[in-house]
Amino acid sequence: MTIQQTVQPTVDLAMFGGGRAVPRKLGIRPWPMVTDQDEQAVHRVLRSGRFTSASSGEQEITGLEREWARHVGTEHCVAVSNGTAALSVALGAAGVEPGDEVIVPALSFIGSAAAPLHLMAVPVFVDIDPVTFNLDPAAVEAAITGRTKAIVVVHLHGLPAELDEITAIADRHGITVVEDAAQAHGARYRGRSVGSFGAVNAFSLNVSKNLATCGEGGLITTDDADVATRATMLRQFGELIPAGGERSYVAHLLGWNCKPNAVQAAFTRSRLARLPAETAVREENVRRLLGRLAAYPGFLVPEVPRDRTHAWHILRIRVSPAAFGLADAYAGPLRAVVQRALRAEGVPAVPYQLQPLPAQRVFTGRRGFGAYPWALPGVVDRPYRAEDFPATLRVLDDSFTIQKAHLHPESGPLLDRYADAFEKVWQHREALAAIAATTDYTPHWERASEIADTEWAGAFPAR
Ligand SMILES: Cc1ncc(COP(=O)(O)O)c(C=O)c1O
Repeated sequence: MTIQQTVQPTVDLAMFGGGRAVPRKLGIRPWPMVTDQDEQAVHRVLRSGRFTSASSGEQEITGLEREWARHVGTEHCVAVSNGTAALSVALGAAGVEPGDEVIVPALSFIGSAAAPLHLMAVPVFVDIDPVTFNLDPAAVEAAITGRTKAIVVVHLHGLPAELDEITAIADRHGITVVEDAAQAHGARYRGRSVGSFGAVNAFSLNVSKNLATCGEGGLITTDDADVATRATMLRQFGELIPAGGERSYVAHLLGWNCKPNAVQAAFTRSRLARLPAETAVREENVRRLLGRLAAYPGFLVPEVPRDRTHAWHILRIRVSPAAFGLADAYAGPLRAVVQRALRAEGVPAVPYQLQPLPAQRVFTGRRGFGAYPWALPGVVDRPYRAEDFPATLRVLDDSFTIQKAHLHPESGPLLDRYADAFEKVWQHREALAAIAATTDYTPHWERASEIADTEWAGAFPAR
């Protein structure tokens, strides 16, 4: 199929007043989709009167824990109130303590780095591989010190990270691997589900996720019974609450209150039954979209190594300046113009993260627990600088993402029109390259810095 056969080269870009490639009537289907079955599951809980994991005789949370452990292939699962709590509790249950260093990828959601900080551990950021968007194993090894306790291995956007290499590095240095699989439900690495590789692992059930609840939720998986017990205590004030028996109110350690909610557990259980089928249909829909995009050298679509599957939580597409006839220095401006053109056509192209995590004010301003953990004795307080993460900066600059629109199993026809939009934009590449070469441009991270300066002046003393 040639470009000319499907889209007339004379068709004007919507950003210049032409018609849209994606008809408005093809709206984005709501996510998470809610079926009668999901509603019945929620009503079942409302009628039961058992609403949290501390409710005597509660069945939905324990049922979800049992089913998710089986799905992932681990011995144990502990449900909590959200994915960030799952990660904090997982790290705590793995023995991370104040002043320990925890390696975190520079490109991820803030929760990946906030979780160790909540334990007064020091996040040490590591650059990503610009092709997989996941931790670069060589950079992980280079970042290890005598204080490194754990590595948060994020499977960003749904693609499993280099688990074998990272696990081998961790084993050599006696460090714990904790998977952050918040975006990767159902993804597999060498035949095994993510969430079964680390000593203890975390998932999010936030409404935006592939396995979503009707609100917030999180799941922790592990094969270690002691870790599971510690995680359970950490979620409920440090207490052990017997399933059917009397609660003693004895706190054995410092815990949080991040207990899960039975309504959300029941909703997730209902959705879990459909996860494999939805994952399979999404794979087909997304592969068809990306297959068409790959025909245009200006768009670099995600690569999936043969030994793993992608959960396709977020689609990140890079723009190649060389293919548009531009020098590398124009990567950012070109991406900005292409993104604008696609949005005008009806493709909801958006950034995901404006800056490397270490550039967030919480880190550059040392806004932790007072000056802690950085002021703890023995902690080496290294600078947090965006420029130390060139691959992350480059990817943030030259790529955009599609989120949520592709998650619904019936999004195939919409994604086909998205492919038309990309095709149309590619046809007008010369005009777009000319605009990119001449317009003012502010990188995302400079904008983020301006927002941080202006949105909230803050009451923190400068550190
Ligand atoms: C990679 C990653 N880690 C952690 C989290 C935190 O999950 P939650 O939003 O449920 O706290 C998210 C959620 O967006 C995420 O994408």
